[in-house]
Amino acid sequence: MKTFLKILLGSALAGLLVYLYYTEVKPVVIFGLRSDYAHAIPFQKIPEGLTSLKAESCGQCHREIYDEWKTSIHAHAYEDPFFQAYWKKDNNIWVCLNCHAPLENQQPTLVGEIPRGRVEKAVQKPNPHYDPEYQKESVTCAACHVRDGVVYGPYEDSAAPHPIKFDPNFRTTQVCQRCHNVVSGPAQFYNVGPCGTYSEYEGKFFMKERGFICQSCHMPEIDRPVATNGPIRRGRQHLWRGGHDPDMVKRAVGVQVKADTVSPKPGERVSFTLTVINAGAGHKIPTGDPDRYFTVEFFVEDRGGHVLDHQTSTIGRWIMWQPAIVELYDNRLLPLASREYQFTYQLPAQAEGLKVKARVQYHILTDKQHEMLQTQYGLTGNDPYRFVVYEREFPLSGDLAAALSESEQSATLSRQPEGTSCKAGAAG
Ligand code: HEC
Ligand code: HEC
Ligand code: HEC
Ligand code: HEC
Ligand code: HEC
Repeated sequence: MKTFLKILLGSALAGLLVYLYYTEVKPVVIFGLRSDYAHAIPFQKIPEGLTSLKAESCGQCHREIYDEWKTSIHAHAYEDPFFQAYWKKDNNIWVCLNCHAPLENQQPTLVGEIPRGRVEKAVQKPNPHYDPEYQKESVTCAACHVRDGVVYGPYEDSAAPHPIKFDPNFRTTQVCQRCHNVVSGPAQFYNVGPCGTYSEYEGKFFMKERGFICQSCHMPEIDRPVATNGPIRRGRQHLWRGGHDPDMVKRAVGVQVKADTVSPKPGERVSFTLTVINAGAGHKIPTGDPDRYFTVEFFVEDRGGHVLDHQTSTIGRWIMWQPAIVELYDNRLLPLASREYQFTYQLPAQAEGLKVKARVQYHILTDKQHEMLQTQYGLTGNDPYRFVVYEREFPLSGDLAAALSESEQSATLSRQPEGTSCKAGAAG
């Protein structure tokens, strides 16, 4: 009888603990709240002199900036099929909108108190000012520029048909930090926040030694009229290229391949060393969304393209998501950090026509996750989710020397533009 009672009590206690874990401890989203993004950017009214807050209406006078923004991922952060699929997976919880469609005007509900910081328990009521068309504009002009009926900007002397105010923060990283430095929540064990791009940048090479801000690389400088018929000014293109843009990713990655012999003979062992360096990103590569990773691969192929040997290594973060979030390992590259990957192959007696292929790929997510989003969460569109950033072939014969030196030359060339295309701004 006594044992029976003990078992009963034991299971009741275990049940209670599991209940408490799921309702009070287990996070519903993979990040914590911080006061600046726990709530939407408050309701904004149309500044005097303008007829609408919408990006398109700003574009009547700021045409080029509008056209650039329209091509950027900021303009699509809400309709982005990857966002939509993951959002569905997270039961369309409201908190995601605070960065992907951040103005109160863009959100269907008004969020009040958030008891004990638990997003699923937040008090919500319908938003009478909700504009579904405006929601689709995602990170729209007003999200960064409009507060209390005033348009904020980087200049001290402009004359505009709308109220303006100089805000020195536009030339610092302050404008980006709200959304690009997500923190971990209680019972989440990350090394840095789940999308902690700002923390990876703070105090590192490009900030400290070059005085670069986020805009230096993500909003290239340009001299032009910033409004129709306005004077020529130094401003910045509203492009924000990042992980979805192969050219941008290539700017971050320097690759060099060396071999321990320049004329391998049949029967010998040959060793290749591939060095990857974060040559052009102000933060870790990959950064942001923890799904991102690089693979470094070597293949040995014969004349017919048959793969005789294959080796893959990964650069990214390894996170256990269930039953609790624990970051196990992070081998991403900090600015200017490099890592060597070795590949050794024993040449057969008949080595004629064999070659080694070295390849570096960037992945937005894994093939498996991609399939899960497609089959379970309605991922639509055929947006590429991985692409090659480096690929070279090296013949396993006397021609190896030439192939290696050619690869070395183009490695130095491909690193050069980084210094010239990213002009320094004021340190943030
Ligand atoms: C009817 C034309 C017009 C419309 C519409 C318009 N602007 Fe302007 N805006 C101007 C002009 C003109 C200037 C001043 C340009 C100059 O001095 O070089 C300006 C200046 C600015 C500046 C720079 C302010 C500073 O001092 O740093 C920003 C930012 C800006 N506008 C944003 C917006 C946004 C956002 C919208 C839409 C909500 C918008 N504008 C709508 C004409 C317009
Ligand atoms: C209101 C929130 C918000 C602010 C402020 C903001 N961003 Fe973003 N940014 C986002 C969101 C959300 C995405 C992701 C969109 C997506 O992929 O669906 C994004 C994407 C990006 C990307 C592209 C990533 C990719 O995958 O291609 C870059 C680069 C970027 N932002 C840079 C900046 C910079 C630089 C600033 C400061 C000038 C800034 N952002 C300010 C919310 C913001
Ligand atoms: C993610 C934040 C963000 C969004 C969204 C955004 N801007 Fe800007 N904008 C900036 C920053 C940062 C600068 C300062 C660039 C610099 O240093 O000159 C700026 C500068 C400007 C300027 C002054 C000219 C210049 O190049 O500096 C105008 C005008 C302007 N933005 C209009 C717009 C319009 C119109 C939209 C929407 C189509 C828009 N912005 C969307 C961040 C943003
Ligand atoms: C020295 C240039 C440089 C600076 C400074 C820089 N970046 Fe980047 N950033 C890059 C390059 C190059 C890439 C492409 C490589 C990649 O996606 O991993 C990139 C990628 C990104 C991405 C894409 C990540 C994703 O999920 O696809 C985001 C977001 C981003 N940067 C935000 C920022 C923010 C915010 C800052 C300031 C705190 C910043 N960057 C500073 C060069 C820079
Ligand atoms: C604090 C701001 C913030 C919040 C809150 C936020 N995001 Fe994001 N999200 C970003 C930024 C910034 C990026 C792009 C850069 C990066 O990868 O860090 C992004 C990128 C993404 C991407 C990658 C999109 C792509 O095209 O590859 C997905 C998916 C995503 N977010 C889903 C969500 C979901 C689901 C939620 C809510 C559970 C959410 N986000 C909440 C800021 C935020």
